[in-house]
Amino acid sequence: MTIDLLDPLFDPRRISPDHLRELVWKTLDLASGQPDHPWRLPILGTVGDGKAHQRIVVLRGVDLSQQLLLAHTDIRSPKVAQLQTNTHASWLFYAPAPRVQLTLSGPVRIHTDDETANSEWKRLPIGPKRDYLSPLPPGALFPPPCVEESAPLERSASAPNRDPEISDGNDQGRENFAVLAGEVGVMDLLFIRPVEHLRFRMTRTNSGWQMDRLVP
Ligand SMILES: Cc1cc2nc3c(=O)[nH]c(=O)nc-3n(C[C@H](O)[C@H](O)[C@H](O)COP(=O)(O)O)c2cc1C
Repeated sequence: MTIDLLDPLFDPRRISPDHLRELVWKTLDLASGQPDHPWRLPILGTVGDGKAHQRIVVLRGVDLSQQLLLAHTDIRSPKVAQLQTNTHASWLFYAPAPRVQLTLSGPVRIHTDDETANSEWKRLPIGPKRDYLSPLPPGALFPPPCVEESAPLERSASAPNRDPEISDGNDQGRENFAVLAGEVGVMDLLFIRPVEHLRFRMTRTNSGWQMDRLVP
């Protein structure tokens, strides 16, 4: 019988810490392949200039052998500069129906010009590839006028990232593409339940993993 971590009746007290961690990775792996899975859109938190920054990203995959979270981004986006200065990141996942929250934290590595970035780019469909064609970096001020009355947004000269001419094998935009690979040093798992909430923290140590049950 397969155990579903997000089943409202799942009882994490009945399985071993190793099994619980394995279930977390299995669920993340599943989420990365299912567009409608609640854990496919985590909130990624970073630190920059001594302030907290957060945004939604798509969980594009997990590397189960190395236990890494994979997301794609534009190399010019502020989060990349933040992670270059301070590699620490926090990934927040929430599944509303069973009310399960997962927070993962650890350093993020940025891949731009290596095998990881190349293979992620290759498997990216044409639609998301267009996101990397903007001549201006994410977060830059949009060139005036703010509201375009005559031309639809996707045809405007300032937003050519929706150019329908781009073809599948095209590597346009590749230079702006980066893969974020998140290591996990701490997992914090919270189950909000009608009778008793349950919370567990799993911490990577030099000799393996330590699990503690926490007051929710
Ligand atoms: C549903 C959704 C999915 C998103 N997926 C990504 C993504 O995979 N990668 C990414 O860099 N930004 C993604 N974004 C945009 C980010 O949330 C953010 O606005 C953008 O990356 C700029 O972030 P930054 O200024 O903190 O670098 C997504 C936004 C939404 C609403």
